[in-house]
Amino acid sequence: MRKKIVAGNWKMNMTKEEGQALISEVINMANDEVKSSTVLVLCPPAPHLGYAKKMFQSQSNVFLGAQNCHEKASGAYTGEISAPMLKSFEVDYVVLGHSERREYFKESDELLKAKTDQVLANQLIPIFCCGESLSQRQAGSGFIEFVCGQLTNSLFHLSAEQFAKVVIAYEPIWAIGTGLTASSEQAQEMHAALRKHIAAQYGEALAQEIPILYGGSAKPSNAPELFACPDVDGGLIGGASLKSRDFIDIAKAIK
Ligand code: PGA
Repeated sequence: MRKKIVAGNWKMNMTKEEGQALISEVINMANDEVKSSTVLVLCPPAPHLGYAKKMFQSQSNVFLGAQNCHEKASGAYTGEISAPMLKSFEVDYVVLGHSERREYFKESDELLKAKTDQVLANQLIPIFCCGESLSQRQAGSGFIEFVCGQLTNSLFHLSAEQFAKVVIAYEPIWAIGTGLTASSEQAQEMHAALRKHIAAQYGEALAQEIPILYGGSAKPSNAPELFACPDVDGGLIGGASLKSRDFIDIAKAIK
């Protein structure tokens, strides 16, 4: 059985007080309402990581994620955060290649390859984001090949043993923060194509084990239909992860 994961990407939101309140609400609701087999990952901005872990240390299904890390282990890179540091703060997951990082910080497939290596070398789990732009989608063809190519370029140098640790998040850029959501047919089509692409490189058995999350304006109203797709294994949630009720309702959509 593939892991089912609902990850909350807070992006650059939340003061310490707001973050503490949100985490305690999420923990309380998760205890009562979310299946223990559903993995929750909270990805707050870096300053929150230290206290956040302490808040849910005793929760068996709540994990800590970072939103990014540098491709080098240490050095003179003012303002950056390394994978060994994240590991030392007991971070479990690292989001890599979010479209906002690809767009605003010019992160290339090549750079993400190096970041993936750093993350895995430090026993962290990458949540590797991929997805096409609106113009690519509207062109009507080639967008599936483009998204598969993002995996080829940044991940397919990994050994099967390394790749087995990776979580993929398909996030169509046109759906992120826009209120537009991929239909369940569009999501399923892409997720199945990604799994087939992984199978061609690593074999069917491994491809069947890789969680592929959907991200892009996921909310309590559309999560049940998206998560019911056979190749959708959960979600990477932005805006709705800032409201405990919405985030938990989305997590409850995992059956
Ligand atoms: P959204 O963001 O849910 O606000 O669309 C998703 C993401 O960027 O991971």
